[in-house]
Amino acid sequence: MNANEFDKIIENIDISGEAPDTEPERQYFFLARAVRVMNEIMGRTGIRPTAVIKTFGCQMNARDSEKLTGILKCVGYKILPEEAEEEADFVIYNTCTVRENANLKVYGRLGKLGHIKESRHDMMIALCGCMMQEPDVVEKIKKDYKFVDMVFGTHNLYQFPELLYKALAQRQSVIEVWDGTDRIVEELPVERKYPFKSGVNIMFGCNNFCSYCIVPYVRGRERSRKPEDIIEEIKALADDGVKEVMLLGQNVNSYGKGLDEPITFAELLRQVCKIYGIERVRFMTSHPKDLSDELIEVMASEHKVCKHLHLPLQSGSSRILKEMNRHYTKEDYLALVDKIRAAMPEIALTTDIIVGFPGETEEDFKETMDVVSRVEFDSAFTFIYSKRTGTPAASMEDQVPGTTVKDRFGRLLVLVQEKAQRKNRGLSGRTLPVLVESINPQDSSLVSGRLENNSVVHFPGNENLIGQIVDVRLKEAKGFYYYGERV
Ligand code: SAH
Ligand code: SF4
Ligand code: F3S
Repeated sequence: MNANEFDKIIENIDISGEAPDTEPERQYFFLARAVRVMNEIMGRTGIRPTAVIKTFGCQMNARDSEKLTGILKCVGYKILPEEAEEEADFVIYNTCTVRENANLKVYGRLGKLGHIKESRHDMMIALCGCMMQEPDVVEKIKKDYKFVDMVFGTHNLYQFPELLYKALAQRQSVIEVWDGTDRIVEELPVERKYPFKSGVNIMFGCNNFCSYCIVPYVRGRERSRKPEDIIEEIKALADDGVKEVMLLGQNVNSYGKGLDEPITFAELLRQVCKIYGIERVRFMTSHPKDLSDELIEVMASEHKVCKHLHLPLQSGSSRILKEMNRHYTKEDYLALVDKIRAAMPEIALTTDIIVGFPGETEEDFKETMDVVSRVEFDSAFTFIYSKRTGTPAASMEDQVPGTTVKDRFGRLLVLVQEKAQRKNRGLSGRTLPVLVESINPQDSSLVSGRLENNSVVHFPGNENLIGQIVDVRLKEAKGFYYYGERV
């Protein structure tokens, strides 16, 4: 439900008594109370307060930010674009901590906001997301960033109305972070960034404990949503004009395992494809160890499933993969790619690769280069290994020296780009469907959209095309995007 639809629910809530203990009713109660406080503020000042949500990290955080936006709109805030953070009355950073630089970025920007707040005392600042699940971070915020008004974590994001009400009404700082949760609370307002496409959480958390990764510690144990709730949400999205959904989970291939009535991810995908109005279905992320033959079969046979698979490799060395706790070898990965391509010869494959994992030798690195050469990924996200406190890899010996890592990273990037460009050029001359997303920001005579493989295409058009899927002939490949014309 979007914020406008929620207004009707809130109007009928009695806010005179005690807050209910059940969820989501408790949050509705605080939403209604927050609305009243906002109305008082606006009555006094005559101005609608503004808010900015700055999102760091992955698709999960992007979806969480849409939930925060829905709640803020419902309460009465005017939402400004991210760039306006220095002018806004309320700034929220939805943080990521997967690599140290994601973390440092937040502290840098926060320092700047602190200076602005010195001259604008009524400004409110909130921090949430994965970084807040680290106790050291919360301690540091309490000590060095006292001007922060609200801190909450990933597990209690749904409590945002309650925490916001407390911060607004009592003007006291509110810090509430939980270690974990087994609950999934839904039915709160959501405001999508794009009218025509949406992420949909199918599961939360991760149980894989790859030895370098902090996500299982900050997002908790794996919990799958019930298939009927997912289907219902997607049907409502389709009714609201959504054409493309991206099913989200840290490892979608293990979807459904803990449910009372277990179901496979492939079966869920099949059911999602049946929904009238949905024309494209994507998903993220697939762990190679759990990718089933059934999934390959569904992907190949359902024309709504985008022929694109993000299949994180992490390393091409079987020895390093074992140290990473990934549960597959180089040979397993290559065999899986062969099987996928045999079923879907045109599929686009993308990946994530980490360079400089502890103990990585030149030989190990060459194995990674070898996989990149052989698979010829359509694109790859390459990361320098970042030590995350509390993960097993952080205490491994043989951390690779920075200069060696940089050298390897540079070599990998050259190879990845060479392969990706060759792949991209291969599509020139073809006519393919494009979901139009926006007017091109550089040239307003063009619109920009995406192919099934997620590549960007620019072609002449106007805003009436936004949200439509149209056939475009790809005339020219430019690095990682195309110029085309409508046919
Ligand atoms: N669940 C997804 C990945 C989520 S994190 C999966 O398993 O595929 C996204 C990517 O960040 C990972 O694929 C990995 O390549 C990278 N990453 C995670 N931890 C990292 C670390 N400590 N240092 C560098 N890169 C890391
Ligand atoms: Fe991290 Fe591994 Fe889980 Fe992905 S599967 S989130 S890399 S622990
Ligand atoms: Fe970052 Fe959290 Fe996603 S750590 S990558 S935002 S799950």
